[in-house]
Amino acid sequence: MADDMNKMGAPLIFERSKPGARTQMLPPLDVPESLPDPCALRRCAPPLPELAEGEVSRHFSLLERRAFGVNNGFYPLGSCTMKYNPKLNDEMAALPGFADIHPLQPEHTVQGCLEALSRLDVILREITGMDAVSLQPAAGAQGEFTGVMMIKAYHESRGEGSIRTKMLIPDSAHGTNPASAAMNNYTVVTIPSDENGCVDINALRASAGSDTAGLMLTNPNTLGLYEPNVAELTRIVHDAGGLCYYDGANLNAIMGRARPGDMGFDAAHLNLHKTFAAPHGGGGPGGAAVCCKAFLSEYLPSPIVTNDNGAFTLDCGGSSSIGSIHAFYGNFLVCLKALCYLLSLGRDGVTLASSNAVLNANYLMRKLTAPDNAILLDGKPPRACMHEFVLSLKKLKSATGVSALDVAKGLLDEGMHPPTMYFPLIVDEALMFEPTETESRDELDAAAQKITALLNRAFTDPESLRSAPRSTPVRRPDEVKAARSPTLRYGCRTAQ
Ligand SMILES: Cc1ncc(COP(=O)(O)O)c(C=O)c1O
Repeated sequence: MADDMNKMGAPLIFERSKPGARTQMLPPLDVPESLPDPCALRRCAPPLPELAEGEVSRHFSLLERRAFGVNNGFYPLGSCTMKYNPKLNDEMAALPGFADIHPLQPEHTVQGCLEALSRLDVILREITGMDAVSLQPAAGAQGEFTGVMMIKAYHESRGEGSIRTKMLIPDSAHGTNPASAAMNNYTVVTIPSDENGCVDINALRASAGSDTAGLMLTNPNTLGLYEPNVAELTRIVHDAGGLCYYDGANLNAIMGRARPGDMGFDAAHLNLHKTFAAPHGGGGPGGAAVCCKAFLSEYLPSPIVTNDNGAFTLDCGGSSSIGSIHAFYGNFLVCLKALCYLLSLGRDGVTLASSNAVLNANYLMRKLTAPDNAILLDGKPPRACMHEFVLSLKKLKSATGVSALDVAKGLLDEGMHPPTMYFPLIVDEALMFEPTETESRDELDAAAQKITALLNRAFTDPESLRSAPRSTPVRRPDEVKAARSPTLRYGCRTAQ
């Protein structure tokens, strides 16, 4: 019975609601009733579901069983760095001294928390080769948006805000890069990739000029390739008077080995939830650090923790600061989990983690095969990748009719989270795998065997993949409809 429920579409908690159902947990009132000012009272009760506690517990347990996370199995979702999140980090973040504080508490009562933020700041400067850090952004995309705001503020302070209107962004960048530039009213100039999948340096040179505000570079790029000419790229943009922004969301490939600051970048963001193992992707909120060189530090969002001989204070910044981009200091507990991760790995552990992430990605990439090399990008033998790699199923699709989507759906039946599909956009029928360093060799071998078997099945039994998945409660949702006309509120659903 429980298993049947698990397979069926689960009712919403509102659909389980029964008027009057509840669990009586409070004893009868034994003091005079006191209501707030009548004008502060609601006119009618909010439309909340009514259920007994046991029903609530069953509802959420069912949802939990149907969710797939890193604790359930192999999760090679490219670009998302779904590594194992050590439980120690959660335990530290749950300590009452960290979890039971209020952001408006006086500074002298939260010195330990401020010290934790300050220590993270120091470590991230070291890892990135930058001089100053803000921990406020709630995600990578917001970090980029913040960095671009700072670049804009810098040009405006020099009277060049209206002249430098173009942001140069390679076509292999993460999609949030052009979005962040466009949201800051920059015109996006797309720089094409060369035949090796890296930035076409001549195209960059031709585009850089007196109207260039900056370059936004995702490195390693979304093909999992490290830009071989990275120092030259930053030099070209600096010579044109622009600034260089590093999308460091893929830092898991290089941390401890290479630093954006040393490559010539002026600002960068790191995804704390990806690289430094805070649960994410439905498992928890994100957090990003924006790091910059000293000359940009006056534009950082405020407040920033400062350390005056062991006395920690919140500096609200000067008049050049772009202001606050998140309430208080950002997602404090995510920062704390990142600090805990970094302290438990130490300098050598951080370097080993990135080395193993790259090793695991190359290992898995070379173990995957398909008849007639039907998964190779442009039919070329795979180049060494960084922490992730991209297959193109273009040839496989034309030979068998089985698409990247079909293979991804087939992997669900194998108990595996699918890789990222149809990204990056510059690759036809793309599947992007990022196994991360926390998978063992046995796990990678098992995954390689399952994926390879599936790719072979595309040639022998394509229909079984076109009709996959068969084991999940929901099989093929209308993804276009879900993206174009999402119904996010229960009220909307009933109104339709
Ligand atoms: C390269 C890159 N840049 C930016 C982002 C955006 O980060 P977030 O999803 O935290 O907004 C991601 C997300 O995975 C990414 O992979």
